[in-house]
Amino acid sequence: MSTERSSALYQRAVHLMPGGVSSPVRAVKPYPLYMKRGEGSHIFDEDGNGYLDMVLGFGPLILGHSHPDVVRALQEQLLQGTLFGAPCEKEVLLAEKVRSHVPSMEMLRFVNSGTEATMHAVRLARGYTGRRKIIKVDGGFHGAHDSVLVRSGSGALTHGSPDSLGVTQEVARNTLGVNFNDMYSMRNAFRANKGDIAAVIIEPMLGNVGPVPPLPGYLQEVRELTERHASLLIFDEVITGFRLHMGGAQALFGVRPDITVLGKVLGGGMPIGAFGGRKDIMSMVSPLGRVYQAGTFSGNPMSLTAGLATLGVLEREGLEGLDSNGEYVRERLTAIISEMGMEAVVQGLGSTFQLFFRSGEVKDSADALASDRGRYMELYRRMLADGHCLPPSPYETCFLSTAHSRPDIDGVLDAFRHNLEGLP
Ligand SMILES: Cc1ncc(COP(=O)(O)O)c(C=O)c1O
Repeated sequence: MSTERSSALYQRAVHLMPGGVSSPVRAVKPYPLYMKRGEGSHIFDEDGNGYLDMVLGFGPLILGHSHPDVVRALQEQLLQGTLFGAPCEKEVLLAEKVRSHVPSMEMLRFVNSGTEATMHAVRLARGYTGRRKIIKVDGGFHGAHDSVLVRSGSGALTHGSPDSLGVTQEVARNTLGVNFNDMYSMRNAFRANKGDIAAVIIEPMLGNVGPVPPLPGYLQEVRELTERHASLLIFDEVITGFRLHMGGAQALFGVRPDITVLGKVLGGGMPIGAFGGRKDIMSMVSPLGRVYQAGTFSGNPMSLTAGLATLGVLEREGLEGLDSNGEYVRERLTAIISEMGMEAVVQGLGSTFQLFFRSGEVKDSADALASDRGRYMELYRRMLADGHCLPPSPYETCFLSTAHSRPDIDGVLDAFRHNLEGLP
């Protein structure tokens, strides 16, 4: 398999962009593949090699690449205009759709990314409560802004900078880290900071140290604790929203947060984010209230269009097929590992999964970090050379789309089997 063009492009890119990339999660040694085209479950690089894609843009492409409904809708919108700097009907339609699926989002605002959405959600929580501190989970990733770049997951963890330089002590001090699935550390944080916690921001299923589901009752206890302390609960459903359930992880686990953050699937492959929640809280957002938020591209018609088309397909087809394919992969892969007597564990929910080289369940970020990353990266390279694209880090999540057929999935399982064989 030749990847000459990718190599040549990287040689140029590396002098132009830090690490040659626009986002560090894409930086892979010796060089990343430069992708040219996506179709259904497959993605094709500049040299014409095709790969079964389990990255799916790090989650948004739940219908796979270039779904005909999304393409058609975008083509029509393109001819109507890409940006108005004024409200448009699709904004109302998508907001209505979101609220019908996620009723805790009584009011919401569209922004351009998950990062933006969590940034505004945290500011809103501080504005509403008049308190300074937030609690986040170690290894939880909420985008790349100062308040949440503390003990962060995803690329920050992969590249060894979970606490970023440039985040001032004053800011970092107001973000308290606790263990996921551990009420003891959460209670301690509340006890030590009485009356000072504006909010807990949490991914209801960790997705940025690989997928780590909540233990039974954990999210309910977090909800009770936040209520007891009059702090807000922010669910970051950027990964889980419209992926684990049309109503998000909050519907799956039966916990109602005060504020929800969405992104990824909501934009159907176009940039988007949204934050929303209780009406009394959202009424503090400008121009109704004094928590400021604005954006030139917020609620742009292209992103709204792709989002509406994507949710439309999901509403028609449901998530059951995706979920059962996810379960099939997890079960079959677990069986392959146990037949081989390999020390590894497969985790995930719905259409997500990841393989950790360690024994025993991964319950938090420390467990994920204790897995053998070197072995995963070797598996990643073998799978890629074999035409299967996994995320380039064990601290990311593999996704399936509605375009992944059973034969696609059986092919992935065969590839896992023979690439795991003889793994050093
Ligand atoms: C849970 C979660 N929150 C927030 C973000 C940030 O979203 P974006 O990359 O759209 O800024 C991500 C991105 O991966 C995420 O996984």
